[in-house]
Amino acid sequence: MDITTIDSATEATPNALDDAAEASPAPLKLAVIMGSNREGRFGPVVSDWFVSRAAGRTDFTVELIDLADTDLPTALSFKPAAPVRDQLAKITHRLAEADAFVVVTPEYNHSYPASLKTLIDWHFAEWQAKPVGFVSYGGVSGGLRAVEHLRQVFGELHAVAVRDTVSFHNAGALFDDEGRHLDPDRPHAAATSMLDQLAWWGLALRDAKSVRAYAG
Ligand SMILES: Cc1cc2nc3c(=O)[nH]c(=O)nc-3n(C[C@H](O)[C@H](O)[C@H](O)COP(=O)(O)O)c2cc1C
Repeated sequence: MDITTIDSATEATPNALDDAAEASPAPLKLAVIMGSNREGRFGPVVSDWFVSRAAGRTDFTVELIDLADTDLPTALSFKPAAPVRDQLAKITHRLAEADAFVVVTPEYNHSYPASLKTLIDWHFAEWQAKPVGFVSYGGVSGGLRAVEHLRQVFGELHAVAVRDTVSFHNAGALFDDEGRHLDPDRPHAAATSMLDQLAWWGLALRDAKSVRAYAG
């Protein structure tokens, strides 16, 4: 084709693409899962800090799912009894509606807590073709070993684990009594990187699923 003879319809295409690129997509629904349900847990300090970071963005709407508010049994069933169905009714739809997840996990014995595994195993399609980011905390390892185990689990569930994480080593010493991080620049930057990657994958996967269902 002679590029000097582009008609007006063709000429409109680059502008339309520019407009589409500039239009802000609807915010992604981000479910932040607080994985510790331990009595006396430190976790809410970390999850509240993270939720406050994510809530400052325009590309996500954020809700916190606190596993201390549910009581799912470790024994799975294809025909759960009524009390278990009641527990599932509190949480399953929130996972299903989410476009993306951030799992906030402590490290217990070089892995993640049983409460998280129970939540994960009670669900399947709710995780599929969605991105997952991680905020971890613990002792010397900052929960990173827990995160590496979670990557394997979410891979099996067809979820996409984003590369960058937020990690707090010896977490108890890093926050003041009001839950403010004492030296926030690096964790703020880490949260931004992770959320940027989560947003990219979240939009890409949401767009793709709007064209065709995931093949999983
Ligand atoms: C059962 C148990 C095992 C733990 N194992 C580890 C570990 O392997 N590595 C580590 O860095 N910290 C470990 N810790 C420390 C926790 O990661 C740390 O206390 C964290 O704050 C626990 O989170 P939570 O208080 O929100 O439950 C362990 C704590 C508990 C209770």
